Amino acid sequence: MTTAILSAVAEEQAGLLELLHSPRRLNRAGREFWQGELLGQPVVLGLSRMGKVAAATTATTLIEAFGASRLVFTGVAGGVARGVKVGDVVVATEFVQHDMNASPLFPRYQVPLYDRTRFACDEALSALLSQAVVEGLKTAASQSASSYAAQAGVHRGLIASGDRFVSAAAEVSALQADLQDAGHAVLAVEMEGAAVAQVCFDYGLPFAAVRTISDRADEQAHVDFPKFVTEVASQYALAIIEAFMRKLP
Ligand code: ADE
Repeated sequence: MTTAILSAVAEEQAGLLELLHSPRRLNRAGREFWQGELLGQPVVLGLSRMGKVAAATTATTLIEAFGASRLVFTGVAGGVARGVKVGDVVVATEFVQHDMNASPLFPRYQVPLYDRTRFACDEALSALLSQAVVEGLKTAASQSASSYAAQAGVHRGLIASGDRFVSAAAEVSALQADLQDAGHAVLAVEMEGAAVAQVCFDYGLPFAAVRTISDRADEQAHVDFPKFVTEVASQYALAIIEAFMRKLP
């Protein structure tokens, strides 16, 4: 059983690559993938890039070309719910696309011809990921020079994806209010998860996702983002995935 580990950006994948046994690099769909073994488990590593279409291409390639039978995603997100602060971690239970709007043909946020608005993560895989987050944060706190990991809150819930880097407080308020009106209380925003969740739904494969909060999706977001990914989120991702691999059946 091959586990696919999708990272959003190369910095997050770098640590995993160092741990990969018998690494083999392969190119498909204009992307680089790495096959090998991580802590005794067969894995394939891929980069989602940014945005829903790019992530869907990566996910589909992981499944079709590399035979991935379960997918796990690590990345960063902008925190939008109250109490979801920079340095916290969100384990997704479900995804919604905040920029999906085919109304009046279909209700707002509904994915046309799927008869559904949210795509759920796999419960069992997400439960393992949640345990791995707690362990991974302990490891990161003991190793890291930054104080984030020791103070990180862990949240579980709905994440919204869309093809926008959200970087204005007013935009967050509008986005949250519109989603809330339709019954969707979201914790965080990012740009890929809902697409991967939909691909996994199409193939009937389990999917789990974890996002470290890099910013509050406000006017400061673009400043916080690159620094945070390199200095904090990459370390979290590595510690979390190591703990996660040890738990996989
Ligand atoms: N990923 C990390 N921060 C984000 C933001 N503010 N908007 C969209 N995706 C993000």
